[in-house]
Amino acid sequence: MAVRVGVLGATGAVGQRLIQLLDPHPEFEIAALTASDASAGKTYRQAAKWRVDSPIPADVAEMTVTATDPDEVPSDVDMLFSSLPSSVGADVEPAFCEAGYVVSSNSSNGRMDDDIPLVIPEVNADHLDLLEVQRDERGWDGAMVKNPNCSTITFVPTLAALTDYGLEKVHVSTLQAVSGAGYDGVTSMEIIDNAIPYIGGEEDKLETESRKLLGEFDGAELSHNGMDVAASCNRIPTIDGHLENVWVETEEELTTDAAAEAMREYPSLDLRSSPDPLIHVFEEPDRPQPRMDRTLGDGMAIAAGGLQASPFGLQYNCLAHNTIRGAAGASVLNGELLLENGYL
Ligand SMILES: NC(=O)c1ccc[n+]([C@@H]2O[C@H](COP(=O)([O-])OP(=O)(O)OC[C@H]3O[C@@H](n4cnc5c(N)ncnc54)[C@H](OP(=O)(O)O)[C@@H]3O)[C@@H](O)[C@H]2O)c1
Repeated sequence: MAVRVGVLGATGAVGQRLIQLLDPHPEFEIAALTASDASAGKTYRQAAKWRVDSPIPADVAEMTVTATDPDEVPSDVDMLFSSLPSSVGADVEPAFCEAGYVVSSNSSNGRMDDDIPLVIPEVNADHLDLLEVQRDERGWDGAMVKNPNCSTITFVPTLAALTDYGLEKVHVSTLQAVSGAGYDGVTSMEIIDNAIPYIGGEEDKLETESRKLLGEFDGAELSHNGMDVAASCNRIPTIDGHLENVWVETEEELTTDAAAEAMREYPSLDLRSSPDPLIHVFEEPDRPQPRMDRTLGDGMAIAAGGLQASPFGLQYNCLAHNTIRGAAGASVLNGELLLENGYL
């Protein structure tokens, strides 16, 4: 029987992607939709300005959107996918966990908290065991799991494939699509014929989240990876798909052939939304490209290419679909992991 799930922030850009992915999902059944008080009481069709590239699911369109409040969500809903603004999530997500709901959240609040697992299932599924610590410390019947920022998710799986060589220094420069800023995030007058070399708060997320994701959990505490990470973030006029240029210095000698093989062979998981392969390595020097490669693995794969030696270690490019692998798909995948591990 499908698990009854809800979407918090269901009318937004990521919320709509969540609806698109959850509606046909055989393990989940959409049973609750929440948004701001301005949307509460409306049907989903009335409340959401639907912009996803497939029709609004007919059954979801007629559901009534409620306020984002634990009292408004039926108690037989087991899991909530959250795509709330982080300022809102910081207040209400803990209230849902306290009320017994398991929350798979895409919002940035709490991502770096010691007892909140920040998870990319193919990279650090073992960090999910932090939930035992979380429940002990917070006394929640529910639980909270986070997925990382969209640009963090793009490069961390490629680093995970190289950890045997000892990661020392990582430089990453991003070329991020406008959808990452939300529909109202960047105006056309700002971005057409332009590139913006600043995305507030983003560089810090890449630097800190990557070290947490590649850290070690000893059953009680999580220690963060000691590598140095420097990030530079740029907004460019693509619609979807974050492209990143990466330089990695390792303790052990790492050839481009060995790096390509390690990325190609890095294992995926048997979860429904995990792509196989996880990392698609291109031989062509001009790939990956956002328009051509963002939908690999139904938008859940990571693409890499342009591997070469440089004075700053291994150099390569990587790409992921920011609203699927980088946001909604990441939360759904974490939901599948929670289900597989008996948290529902
Ligand atoms: N866009 C991306 O590619 C991306 C990638 C990774 C992470 N994220 C993160 O995902 C989250 C959502 O991003 P988004 O682009 O989907 O934002 P968005 O389009 O602005 O949607 C925000 C959602 O939250 C609801 N909301 C706003 N204020 C609220 C309040 N006070 N109480 C309850 N609900 C409220 C909105 O409902 P109404 O329609 O009623 O206003 C809407 O459903 C953010 O934390 C963002 O940082 C986004």
